[in-house]
Amino acid sequence: MNEDQNIKSSLSEERVFDPPQDFAERCGGVWVDSMDTYRELHKASIEDPENFWSTVANELDWFEPWTKVVDWNPPDAKWFVNARTNVCHNCLDRLINLGHGDEPALIWEGEPSGDDGPEVKTYTYRELHAEVCRFANGLKSLGVGRGDIVTIYMGMVPELTIAVLACARIGAPHSVIFGGFSASAIADRVEDAKSRFLITCDGAWRRGAVVPLKAQVDQAATMTDKIETTIVLRRCDNEIDMRVGRDHFWSDIVADQPDDCPCEPMASEDMLFLLYTSGSTGKPKGIVHTTGGYMVHTYLTSRYTFNLRPGHSHVFWCTADVGWITGHSYIIYGILQNHVPTLMYEGAPNHPEPDRFWDIIERHKVTHFYTAPTAIRAFMKWGDEHPRKHDLSSLRVLGTVGEPINPEAWMWYHRMIGREQCPIVDTWWQTETGGHMITPLPGATPTVPGSCTLPFLGIDAAVVDSTGRELPPNEGGLLVIRKPWPSMLRGVYGDRQRFIDTYFSAVEGMYFAGDSARRDDQGNFWIMGRMDDVINVSGHRLGTMEVESALVSHDAVVEAAVVGMPHEIKGTGIAAFCTLSGDYTPDDALRGQLRAHVAEEIGPIAKPDIIRFTDALPKTRSGKIMRRLLRDVAEGKESTGDMTTLEDFSVLAKLRGDQE
Ligand code: WT7
Repeated sequence: MNEDQNIKSSLSEERVFDPPQDFAERCGGVWVDSMDTYRELHKASIEDPENFWSTVANELDWFEPWTKVVDWNPPDAKWFVNARTNVCHNCLDRLINLGHGDEPALIWEGEPSGDDGPEVKTYTYRELHAEVCRFANGLKSLGVGRGDIVTIYMGMVPELTIAVLACARIGAPHSVIFGGFSASAIADRVEDAKSRFLITCDGAWRRGAVVPLKAQVDQAATMTDKIETTIVLRRCDNEIDMRVGRDHFWSDIVADQPDDCPCEPMASEDMLFLLYTSGSTGKPKGIVHTTGGYMVHTYLTSRYTFNLRPGHSHVFWCTADVGWITGHSYIIYGILQNHVPTLMYEGAPNHPEPDRFWDIIERHKVTHFYTAPTAIRAFMKWGDEHPRKHDLSSLRVLGTVGEPINPEAWMWYHRMIGREQCPIVDTWWQTETGGHMITPLPGATPTVPGSCTLPFLGIDAAVVDSTGRELPPNEGGLLVIRKPWPSMLRGVYGDRQRFIDTYFSAVEGMYFAGDSARRDDQGNFWIMGRMDDVINVSGHRLGTMEVESALVSHDAVVEAAVVGMPHEIKGTGIAAFCTLSGDYTPDDALRGQLRAHVAEEIGPIAKPDIIRFTDALPKTRSGKIMRRLLRDVAEGKESTGDMTTLEDFSVLAKLRGDQE
């Protein structure tokens, strides 16, 4: 990305939006009510993190207290040292014990919509607790024990949340794989995690069609021998193969199970889950999150970032898939702990019509809505008539996550969905950070379209150069976090060196996020983009090398280079440049095959938007592919940068189409 240009376009939108006057009244109160309060709290939280975080942690239940709040030995952090707790207990049992057992905890809506409307299921805390316990007992009956990593590959059904919580309850770390990933992506992750247990569905509903999940699992099982036991939930009644001895139906393993199952008392630093995400190399990495700190951080960020006020008829809806960190933290763990019902929707935003989301908001009286800029841009394109048809007056707070939001999309969201009455929280964070890091607080922070504004309480974010020196306003640099925070990743599963190299080597003693950023004169953060070979496609993170490896694994492709390019809806699209082996004809049929091949290898989200065939790739004299030039070609821009090291100028000319 051209950073200079980015700054200019960001600066062109300078309007500041203050929290609405009646915000506190409309929400039933406000946690952080002004910038003065924010500044005071932020200062105190940075100066005395032990006091700040232990006060928050004391609102939750612990089976054994901590002896120390934080132990920081860069890059290793331990939070709530020696304490014991269970996150599932704090999501369910704690609220039942407080007398909320019969209030709604989880509201689920299915995609198919019959004559009587879509299927809706509501679980109270007590009902969810019973389902989680039954399934936890079922897991145990199959031999799942504390410390066993359980892979979960399901659609957005309530049983997905039940499975996640059941794993947490018995101390079996979960590794959720997004239902859009392919068989080989499953096999890679299962292999890396050495996960013997896998939970899946027969299929998942997507835009009226069935995605055959179990068939992908069967295929994955031919690529790895690690999968010993699978549990299959019936959802779509599509035809599936069940292998005797390996495959069990969900309904069978929960039948006759008691609806109580004690919580494992987990050590604060016991692994809660693994979540795979893309990095600069071809292989996704398993991000390790642990129990106590993740629990406390997601609890507080949910509460403050969205200003959740239990007892004020909130309904919180995050549209992410549970397969991403956003779903883990802000569909399940953070929201349930806060005693606010969390809504889960199974399907596509435009099924059966492009107003599905607004219809859901109206029918369920959603108060808090959290989605991605890519979705907002798609809605803009589908037309204003869809949201206009619906009563969206229940909404109080809007959120965005996953990628920078362009000011046009921000303004549309503000006017069309928020009716100029809802603060927008643009939350910057990552799979690795576990929870929000830089975000407005809706009752306090003046917002500027395109900026994620200011660090959350307890977060010491800064823009620095490679020596760690903080940069003056409006100078772009590395986005770092200088002090540990409770939900920070504890490692890359099975790869200590990669953990150190990726996050703690760019700047001595600080966490480097992989993003570049600048701060404006008010101190607001503006994210400028990734500095590594990661691209953000529709808010989904992909490594360019991952896509390149998928391409070269096809017989036709000798060499491939993948870069991001601006895309109207996706934010960043994927451009692939391929050189072919002599036996293949560079035509559209081959393009189609290659796109299908990448979908097979990774998943449909990784399909290149454009594929260019070329005789050679532009390289430096030392043989490095000149990605900057390819990005310019993909954008249709003239390359103005230094080209003196370009090995063969004619290659570039050919790519641009100057010569054919
Ligand atoms: C990368 C992390 C956080 C859950 C979803 C994505 C980009 C994320 C924002 C934002 C600008 C953002 C960053 C980050 N990103 N949120 N509000 N503004 N950029 O998690 O897959 O781990 O990706 O997404 O580049 O590093 P992820």
